[in-house]
Amino acid sequence: MKTLVIFYSRTGRTKSIAKILSEKLNCDFEEIIDKKKRSGLKGFMRGGLAARKGELTEIKPLVKNPDNYDVLLIGTPNWGSKIPPAIRTFLVENKNKLKKVAFFCTQGGEGDGTEVFDLMSNICEKNPINSLKLTTKMINDGSHHEKIAVFINQLEN
Ligand SMILES: Cc1cc2nc3c(=O)[nH]c(=O)nc-3n(C[C@H](O)[C@H](O)[C@H](O)COP(=O)(O)O)c2cc1C
Repeated sequence: MKTLVIFYSRTGRTKSIAKILSEKLNCDFEEIIDKKKRSGLKGFMRGGLAARKGELTEIKPLVKNPDNYDVLLIGTPNWGSKIPPAIRTFLVENKNKLKKVAFFCTQGGEGDGTEVFDLMSNICEKNPINSLKLTTKMINDGSHHEKIAVFINQLEN
């Protein structure tokens, strides 16, 4: 099964999980880059608002073609139980190229997170074969490794 790990990350946390996943699955890895600057306090505030309003953005052209993969693992940070414009844009622009999808999400707090996956699923019109939600606490205390192992095991079987 040809797999691509593809993600958006504003501050690197989702990226660190994407790296672990692609290393463990020995598969390709692609970062979705928002052409709009999202750093700093302004980026946080405007990004949150854009996510809430369901705005699209311009993303850099992808290096890998999603069409060439059997499964895409799509990673996003949770932005107020919504998704960043870059992930929304990727899903809208590529939904016809996606075969199987799995989702992963990082978030600061303990909130539910299922809203994020439901949103992604609605936009790309596919039910994920699996999903993984990780909090900052899990990443800091190392318990994310066990969750990642279970997630990968379920994907492979
Ligand atoms: C605009 C914005 C809104 C956020 N909203 C939430 C939230 O509602 N709940 C939460 O737990 N974390 C929230 N966070 C925190 C991020 O989900 C968390 O820090 C995530 O791991 C960041 O991933 P990244 O480093 O890949 O960008 C928010 C962050 C941003 C920038």
